[in-house]
Amino acid sequence: MGQEIERAEIAIIKALENKRVAFVSGGDPGVYGAAGLVLEVAGNKKADIDIEIVPGVTSATAAASSLGAPLMVDFAVISLSDILTPWELIERRLRAAVDADFVIVLYNPQSEERKEPLLKTHKILLEYRNPKTLVGIVRRAKRHGEEIIITTLGEMLNYKIDMVTTIIIGNSTTYLSNNRLITPRGYIF
Ligand SMILES: C[S@@+](CC[C@H](N)C(=O)[O-])C[C@H]1O[C@@H](n2cnc3c(N)ncnc32)[C@H](O)[C@@H]1O
Repeated sequence: MGQEIERAEIAIIKALENKRVAFVSGGDPGVYGAAGLVLEVAGNKKADIDIEIVPGVTSATAAASSLGAPLMVDFAVISLSDILTPWELIERRLRAAVDADFVIVLYNPQSEERKEPLLKTHKILLEYRNPKTLVGIVRRAKRHGEEIIITTLGEMLNYKIDMVTTIIIGNSTTYLSNNRLITPRGYIF
């Protein structure tokens, strides 16, 4: 974090020198990733270059696959980072999603310096959802040392949550079967 603009500018300058450039961005580059920034920098520089965006697996679906199938219905992905987005807007989106019974995926949940957004989020979620609502917490999804926790909304803050953690809050229909989370689409039951 913090050097993306410089990296994007270097990438565009190199491309303008007719070099082939790969700009690597974790997960899916178009989901809170570098794709938007690179396109914006290219636009600002009026750089007429061919930019291909290669899709990847975003943390939401990587984490979901480790937990079972919690994202089988409508879901909302919300970043709790208030560095580039004001907290008031994050809270408005959070309240809308939880009120509409979306499954909710939380990105950028908590760091050493930034603990308040997750505490506030937890309180807001409990205003709308039962404390027994199922929650999945995945650290280092699909990487060495992956940690997978299935817990409840009431208990979720008792676990290690950091900036390589994705949290999935189930909706009112999410259930546990054979230790896997399922949000049913309604095929069978
Ligand atoms: C800015 S978002 C990155 C989005 C990225 N472009 C993507 O598609 O996953 C950063 C957040 O993604 C989540 N994340 C990234 N890598 C992860 C991993 N290996 N396991 C779990 N969550 C991860 C964390 O919530 C982290 O704070």
